[in-house]
Amino acid sequence: MENGFENGELTIPTETLRAWLEEGKPVFVLDVRPKDQREEWQIPGSHYIDAYQRLREGDASVMDEVHIPANTPVVTVCEAGRTSRIAARELMKKGIEVYSLEGGMKAWSLAWNEAELKSEDTKIIQVRRTGKGCLSYIIGSRDEALVIDPSLDPEVYIKLASAKNWQIKVVIDTHIHADHLSRSRELTHMTNAELFMPEQDKANFAFQSISNNDVLKCGTSILRAISTPGHTLESTSYILDEKYLFTGDTLFTNGVGRPDLKADLDSTKARARLLYRSLQKLMTLPDETIVLPGHTSKPIEFDSKVVQKPLSEIKVSVKMLRLHEDEFIDRVLHGIPPTPPNYISIIEKNLRGDYSDINPVDLESGANRCAIS
Ligand SMILES: [Fe+2]
Repeated sequence: MENGFENGELTIPTETLRAWLEEGKPVFVLDVRPKDQREEWQIPGSHYIDAYQRLREGDASVMDEVHIPANTPVVTVCEAGRTSRIAARELMKKGIEVYSLEGGMKAWSLAWNEAELKSEDTKIIQVRRTGKGCLSYIIGSRDEALVIDPSLDPEVYIKLASAKNWQIKVVIDTHIHADHLSRSRELTHMTNAELFMPEQDKANFAFQSISNNDVLKCGTSILRAISTPGHTLESTSYILDEKYLFTGDTLFTNGVGRPDLKADLDSTKARARLLYRSLQKLMTLPDETIVLPGHTSKPIEFDSKVVQKPLSEIKVSVKMLRLHEDEFIDRVLHGIPPTPPNYISIIEKNLRGDYSDINPVDLESGANRCAIS
């Protein structure tokens, strides 16, 4: 049996669960991981039972403690898809329609959903890795598309663009990422699009440099670069038609970027100062500017709602933005979250522009840890 276990239990791939959630099919997602893993990240709307240890010890009675609504299929989930099969087997004995998620949360790391924004004849599709919270964007105008920070299989962007009759002409990153592998280079190879990166001399592959105030055209729209060093030295934000601001990991809807990755204390301080000045520069943009960040710290719901905020709201809600420079630096240094897993290897592969020697989910699995709030 291709997808099932020998005794009739079934597994489903992440793509099936993703599609069910996207279309709003009623499904009871049951997470059976240890509590600390659950707290780190989870599938939106999923339910939890602290059953991991007991299932591993062969105590199946723990599954009697779950209350599942009638006539609702269940999908059991664990870290890699093994303990969830034990849980599924137990639920199946009770006559419940149940599936185990193949590859578990590790595989779920690549699950995505989308949300769309329309501005006159230009559209923006926000493509979201729901678990990790990585946000990438396809801007489409006339028959052309420009992709910012692709973090999923290039096919995802190619399919979404072709469904709108757009051809991907330009791919661009906001900075050299530390929490996910950039798919920019691969996407340009598959589409013949041009690859742009913020000006720097660290990446070991061919790209076109983009510097402060440079502009790129996409159909009738104009994307302008705003240099915003701090999170990394080359970090660059982009503003579309002077209205939609793609901030990468410089500014989030609920916090600011971390300036410490691959930096010692002195360089972290120096980068925090740059970050402060970059943020102040962004704060001079009109209040109605819509901020579209590179990440969100929570798993993204299948709700088709764009993760966005007007600058006016961020100015109020992100209190750090109102601090003086030295207070800001102090606050940043005291608010740095734990480093993302495997970030050194991820940066190294992004600088090489090649990750063909590994399976991306082995490096990228886990929650996002980019924001300080
Ligand atoms: Fe980043």
